[in-house]
Amino acid sequence: MSPRSFALSLQSPPSKAHSLLVTGGAGFIGSNFVIQRVAGGTPVLNLDKLTYAGNPENLASIADSPLYTFVHGDICDAHLVARLLAEYQPSAIVNFAAESHVDRSITGPEAFLRTNIDGTFTLLQAARAYYETLTGEARDTFRFLHVSTDEVFGTLSPTDPAFHEDTPYAPNSPYAASKASSDHLVRAWHHTYGLPTLITNCSNNYGPFQFPEKLIPLMISNALAGKPLPVYGDGQQVRDWLFVEDHCSAIHTVLASGKVGETYNIGGNNQRANLHVVHTLCALLDELRPDSPYIPHSKLLLYVKDRPGHDRRYAIDARKIQRELHWLPAESFETGLRKTVQWYLDNPAWIESVTSGAYQHWIDQNYAQRGATS
Ligand code: NAD
Ligand code: DAU
Repeated sequence: MSPRSFALSLQSPPSKAHSLLVTGGAGFIGSNFVIQRVAGGTPVLNLDKLTYAGNPENLASIADSPLYTFVHGDICDAHLVARLLAEYQPSAIVNFAAESHVDRSITGPEAFLRTNIDGTFTLLQAARAYYETLTGEARDTFRFLHVSTDEVFGTLSPTDPAFHEDTPYAPNSPYAASKASSDHLVRAWHHTYGLPTLITNCSNNYGPFQFPEKLIPLMISNALAGKPLPVYGDGQQVRDWLFVEDHCSAIHTVLASGKVGETYNIGGNNQRANLHVVHTLCALLDELRPDSPYIPHSKLLLYVKDRPGHDRRYAIDARKIQRELHWLPAESFETGLRKTVQWYLDNPAWIESVTSGAYQHWIDQNYAQRGATS
């Protein structure tokens, strides 16, 4: 499928009510969110630069929907963003667009500062100008929702309480620092200019359409191909996992009922050590692929040199969104992981299409320098 881009003139924009400008909607979480919202009857304009992480194939199921429009472009392009807002007249902006991989931020931080900081700044300025043109109900209901991460809070010891909304920011990687900067900009645009903003800080996502540079899809993809499963350091780092569709439903909830100017932590209370995650994936693959030549898949596990500055533990306290907005995740880690493994097994062509030349270059660059430690 080729992206259905358009020239900059929207002849008949959908009704203003409840239409969304989504940025980064061809990426992992963004595409799940766009599919969910279009299925719910919401018109969506998706602005995406289509970096290595953006894939129009993720949106094949809704590509022909009259509710869905795709624009190939950069959130750093102020002129483009202003034109889109003026022509599409969305009732909200949901900003997913970002460079999102910590390891890439270590080898090449520039793109992270550009998109995550400058891009968010550009969107905020355009949103501010657009907001000033709104009147009546359109002005009262307009929202700018910024999708952020728990990594802005830094790292936890095994006994520390989970991150809550008032935990001080202490980002440790270039990625986390760029996301923390963008959160501060969003906060300031609310306090200084009165822009009706919302921020969500979510824990690690997993599920369909996740690019296989991240832990879970990388391990599935490597295991299916009989390649080593590279575990950084001792594998005892803890992440707090949430199925992507639950993250999307939480964002929808915050958009619909969140209090302007507030931040909401999102998580499913699923803290797991990386080694546990990898062994669980191997066991699922052993069960779901009984004819695999690589059984038991855990034989493929390989300890490699650790990530510099590797955060030891993340954990999200999601009681605020549960208490105030009555959001709860639908999936446990076990049900979500099983669905995810099954999705990758059912979609070998998707894996094939994203693990092409440029991907191999990244894998060589990231893992060749690591070397085995066991
Ligand atoms: P992703 O890397 O899969 O997708 C990012 C998308 O943004 C891609 O489609 C890419 O083409 C697009 N993009 C990048 N630069 C752009 C630019 N300058 N202009 C327009 N589009 C651009 O990321 P993801 O995992 O889906 O994460 C989405 C958002 O959620 C990010 O802001 C990330 O910080 C946040 N987040 C991610 C997780 C997670 O576990 N993946 C958890 C919490 C928060
Ligand atoms: O916490 C939310 C964040 O989660 C998001 O903001 C980021 O966008 C997202 O990429 C993710 O960051 P992590 O660094 O936690 O995700 P990643 O999948 O890269 O790594 C998860 C853990 O697994 C981490 O402790 C590093 C480890 N790891 C990762 C890879 C790719 C390995 O041990 N081996 C690997 O090959």
